Amino acid sequence: ETGPRTPVLWLHGLECTCCSESFIRSSHPTIEDILFNMISLDYDDILSAAAGTQLEEVRRRIMKEYKGKYILAIEGNIPTKDDGVYCLVGGDSFLNTVKETAADAAAIIAWGNCASFGCVQNAHPNPTGAAPVSDIIKNKPIVKVPGCPPIAEVMTGVIAHFHTFGTLPELDRLGRPKAFYNTRIHDKCYRRAFFDAGMFVESFDDEATKKGWCLYKMGCKGPTTYNSCSKIQWNGGTSFPIGSGHPCIGCSEPGFWDNGPFYGR
Ligand code: SF4
Ligand code: SF4
Ligand code: F3S
Repeated sequence: ETGPRTPVLWLHGLECTCCSESFIRSSHPTIEDILFNMISLDYDDILSAAAGTQLEEVRRRIMKEYKGKYILAIEGNIPTKDDGVYCLVGGDSFLNTVKETAADAAAIIAWGNCASFGCVQNAHPNPTGAAPVSDIIKNKPIVKVPGCPPIAEVMTGVIAHFHTFGTLPELDRLGRPKAFYNTRIHDKCYRRAFFDAGMFVESFDDEATKKGWCLYKMGCKGPTTYNSCSKIQWNGGTSFPIGSGHPCIGCSEPGFWDNGPFYGR
């Protein structure tokens, strides 16, 4: 609690910004606690007050002053085709900026499915050559925090772990923190009893839908998706996609856009 805050440089590549939208809604720990007591968010081209040259100068200064000590957080992925021309930030390609900023980082956090696995931008036919962070940076520890977006408390939980222990959390074989990605949605789903009893929704307007039966036949990917949605849920524990009657589409897994169809089997 009394230690210095960890400097964080948060870059944005090809993305939709909803990982940030999720992050700022964390309720435990609260986003205020994260920003005032755990990290110093020195660069974030979405949330910073400064912009343009001023902000780029801050990024370079932090890289120099906190060499080997700052966290590089990346939201979105990196287009690699045609020298990375499909995403330019501060007058340079995002590809160059990621390489430059990663060089002296202590570790990298890849937010969301975009930065972790590529998401919709690198779905077939991937016209911009969009690549996840781990395809570009090979010599730094990377923690992948997938989901589209990830759950707010999973994001802040990873930061809280690094701030408390000075290390990345234990990771699974895909590089995700085990604490949050060690069970399938299916393992803790409240509709599991219907699955086991063979009671399935067959159409979105049938009686079984009204009764909240299992969504497996509607394409639910819960049996093959590792994430915390059915445990800690969203919006401070309010609900999650299946709780709202929608099948899980596997948004924390690699290649989920190409693993379709989303609906039906
Ligand atoms: Fe948006 Fe999803 Fe990418 Fe996050 S992972 S930036 S929510 S498209
Ligand atoms: Fe499993 Fe999906 Fe059915 Fe829940 S709704 S029990 S996650 S198949
Ligand atoms: Fe994503 Fe499935 Fe959770 S679609 S939000 S992993 S329930």
